[in-house]
Amino acid sequence: CGIVGIVGTQPVAGRLVDALKRLEYRGYDSAGVATIHEGVMDRRRAEGKLFNLEKRLDAEPLPGLVGIAHTRWATHGVPNETNAHPHFVEGVAVVHNGIIENFSELRDELTEEGSVFETQTDTEVVAQLMAKYLREGLDPRAAMLKMLNRVTGAYALAVMLKDDPGTIMAARSGPPLAVGYGRGEMFLGSDAIALSPFTNEITYLVDGDCALITRDSVSVLDFAGRPVKRARQISQATAYVVDKGNHRHFMEKEIYEQPEVISHALSHYVDFAENTISANAAAIDFKAATGLVISACGTAYLAGLVGKYWFERYARLPVEIDVASEFRYREMPLSPSQAALFISQSGETADTLASLRYCRDNGLKIGAVVNVRESTIARESDAVFPIMAGPEIGVASTKAFTCQLAVLASLAIGAGKARGTVSAEEERALVRHLAEMPRVMSRVLNLIQPQMESLSRELSKCRDVLYLGRGTSFPLAMEGALKLKEISYIHAEGYAAGELKHGPIALIDENMPVIVIAPYDRFFEKTVSNMQEVAARGGRIIFITDEAGAAASKLPTMATITLPVVDEIIAPMIFSLPIQLLAYHTAVFMGTDVDQPRNLAKSVTVE
Ligand code: G6P
Repeated sequence: CGIVGIVGTQPVAGRLVDALKRLEYRGYDSAGVATIHEGVMDRRRAEGKLFNLEKRLDAEPLPGLVGIAHTRWATHGVPNETNAHPHFVEGVAVVHNGIIENFSELRDELTEEGSVFETQTDTEVVAQLMAKYLREGLDPRAAMLKMLNRVTGAYALAVMLKDDPGTIMAARSGPPLAVGYGRGEMFLGSDAIALSPFTNEITYLVDGDCALITRDSVSVLDFAGRPVKRARQISQATAYVVDKGNHRHFMEKEIYEQPEVISHALSHYVDFAENTISANAAAIDFKAATGLVISACGTAYLAGLVGKYWFERYARLPVEIDVASEFRYREMPLSPSQAALFISQSGETADTLASLRYCRDNGLKIGAVVNVRESTIARESDAVFPIMAGPEIGVASTKAFTCQLAVLASLAIGAGKARGTVSAEEERALVRHLAEMPRVMSRVLNLIQPQMESLSRELSKCRDVLYLGRGTSFPLAMEGALKLKEISYIHAEGYAAGELKHGPIALIDENMPVIVIAPYDRFFEKTVSNMQEVAARGGRIIFITDEAGAAASKLPTMATITLPVVDEIIAPMIFSLPIQLLAYHTAVFMGTDVDQPRNLAKSVTVE
């Protein structure tokens, strides 16, 4: 799910593929590139990794100074070469991210009129419609606008015409798209990272924009054809180096980066000299709020679930939280006196954005906890809370999760301070604990690494794994299960330890390890009772606890992972480390594609 385009003065095919490589982290299952050269429009496409496309291009190079390219994450139609973009119909080339929702009725209509479809994709209707309108005599601009007024859904599009080789037309209605300004060349890309080697001067298109891009001009229109003005900005993305360093995978690098990035995140929200939460955490008026709504997807949702415990405990603020794909359609009654937080690493997740808009339409003040400050979710929010994690490339989220937690913890303490439920003394104590985090994280990463590696051998032999936890360890149990299934493809479930008796206990036998996450906190005894129930049924326990917990429990385990004793406020971040490493090493052991696991995408801009 990435788009790039160049209207250039130098050959473009190689540069387009390089730009696609910078979008690889988003996940994809096929790729393609098309160029126009001396009146001939041609393309190369390949299933699987970009390496396959490069091999095709080596064997049969594509000359040309104008081109578009694409990485596809299959929605409609299997990920084979025929369904890979660009799609060609009578001199029209199209690449597309997102979903054309009315494609089936458009396809029926076009088929009835005599159009012949070559693929099973929703994208082909865009090319077919363009071809039809051009046949009917419309000029390229008019054909593009007419097509845009026929299709519905969420899409980012780039269109190139054989008979108009100096122009790329682009449109956005959902997934992000940015135009880049070069010297005598113009660029198009799904994000600023894709464009970073070419230019840092960019314009983000907004929903409902159509851009006509030539070598020396960019004009932006609305879908009615009226010109609109969009500001140029300098992107920060050029500063990022996307490199694995000494690590085998981006995921490993990102796990080990956590002590450093957590300190960046904290220094944005914490005044370490005074041991207080800084004004950056107060960009939303939590004092006046009667409640807090949180919505997100995937790992970001699980970070929000930990946040719920904190906001309720420290700020006495009732929290309503749901996955964004449900929240957006629940027609939940809301009040403008509530505040809302949307958590998203990419800042582009379609369901999260739709939930944000629902809250905004209901008059709520909106805060965005995002990693990409230039993202759509950030731009549509009243206040932006950056998590400062730096680009996260591994599809399975690690450092973004712990940075999201660090930010949510700071916001919850700040909210408590504003609402008078956290005293100045408590604030200082909590902030001191937050400040310990980078040091404790480094220590834990070094301490547990060998044990995680050897345990992962055992885990890799299992078909199912159960994770249990109480309190903030419950969302962590779900995150542990999510990490493991995402990258090792072992079935895993995360459960509230107290729910064990209500179902999953039936699954327990000597084949299914039960990973129990239990720091020595106020829930510890209760969780140990649940462990007892597992042990009594011959279940094998992997016990993730701290020194106090290890000393207090006498139960036999398959393994005990002993972390240092830390305060409750930082335990979720510290206890994230063993579950990340366990999933990582298990996946490495099994030989899966750790950074780009099958079927998953980093940035999900479709429903
Ligand atoms: C995808 C990714 C997950 C991520 C989720 C939400 O499923 O694979 O790692 O947690 O989307 O993404 P966001 O960018 O909104 O945090």
